[in-house]
Amino acid sequence: MALTMALAATAQAEDVEVLHWWTAGGEAAALNVLKDDLQAQGIGWLDMPVAGGGGEAAMTALRARVTAGDAPTAVQMLGFDILDWANQPDVLADLSAVATAENWDAVIPAAIQKFSKPNGTWIAAPVNVHSTNWVWANKAVLDELGIAEPTTWDEFIAALQTAKDAGKVALAHGGQPWQEATIFDSAVLATGGAEFYQKSMIDLDPEALGSEQMVQAFDKMAQMRSFVDDNFSGRDWNLASAMVINGEAAFQIMGDWAKGEFINAGKVPGTDFLCFRVPGTEGNVTFNSDQFVMFKQAEDAAATAQNAMATAIESPAFQIAFNKVKGSVPARTDVPSDEFDDCAKKGMEQLAAAAEAGTLLGSMGHGHANPAAVKNAMYDVITAHFNGEYDSATAAEELVAAVEAAQ
Ligand code: GAL
Repeated sequence: MALTMALAATAQAEDVEVLHWWTAGGEAAALNVLKDDLQAQGIGWLDMPVAGGGGEAAMTALRARVTAGDAPTAVQMLGFDILDWANQPDVLADLSAVATAENWDAVIPAAIQKFSKPNGTWIAAPVNVHSTNWVWANKAVLDELGIAEPTTWDEFIAALQTAKDAGKVALAHGGQPWQEATIFDSAVLATGGAEFYQKSMIDLDPEALGSEQMVQAFDKMAQMRSFVDDNFSGRDWNLASAMVINGEAAFQIMGDWAKGEFINAGKVPGTDFLCFRVPGTEGNVTFNSDQFVMFKQAEDAAATAQNAMATAIESPAFQIAFNKVKGSVPARTDVPSDEFDDCAKKGMEQLAAAAEAGTLLGSMGHGHANPAAVKNAMYDVITAHFNGEYDSATAAEELVAAVEAAQ
């Protein structure tokens, strides 16, 4: 019995062992689309889930596995983490043959290729594009309270206040650093637009990081803090989504993986829930893209399974099936939108428009604006401020110092 179990838990070369953090209901449902697709091709799946939204815990688990000489076959990864691994000699598999044969160069947007194809070598297969500056709202709650969809930051504050006064949880939130950082993407954008976001979050310009505008961005965070419930600390993001789904809360600011939770609960956009950009951030999109990075394996047969997995991920039919469930939009630009719901259609249009206008920006909260060390330094300051350790002016000063120290 023990032997059977041990054997069952060992990946064969022609299987894939996949390290990921998709453990919430909607995420798991999306992952099943990939699992089933591969299984239909005879590729087995050994699951290595590491819970924790945003993937910090997964990245820690990955480092331990690689250090032990036991890298998983395929790993879910974000932006700058991919670049960090790409700089390690001889660790990652090369997907260029598949990418060239399937012409990924022509269909994957440049903003994503920056991470999938550093130094001209394809090392990751992008599965989706998410964006973080979204609000999710319970439509029945809004209707009952006479709240119209807010279109400016001040209207949003007024709507949150109405919900709070009516005894609802105004803003469903989970007090974890990455969730606060997710809101921060929007606070920075709503304060100073794309230019300020670029200067502070991406270029890491100390002047922008310590500016009066940054103080105002922190003030917006403090406003949000006043609308969360007493039990927010440590709550998982999907439990916060559930509060909006079941009508306990009015709004959640979260990336569009939250839509996966609404869909998984059988809810319909426009009827049961609303999706709109965080008021004050319209026209800008802070994006992140989940990619699967393949790690070199001892057996040659592993490469066959890795290439098959990469091919499956980039197939247009898979991109549609998967992203409909996940809440994201396709990583390919040539996939038609007609099978997608209204939130995704809106997302796809806005993504294309932002790319055109130069307002498509990497999400700081999700590893697409700056390297992990800087991101984590920012997380610390943002969370400390959210929990009342710093006032906004001090937080901006601390941000300058933390970013400098992390570089
Ligand atoms: C993001 C990831 C999404 C979603 C989210 C919450 O970083 O890109 O796919 O899983 O974390 O877990």
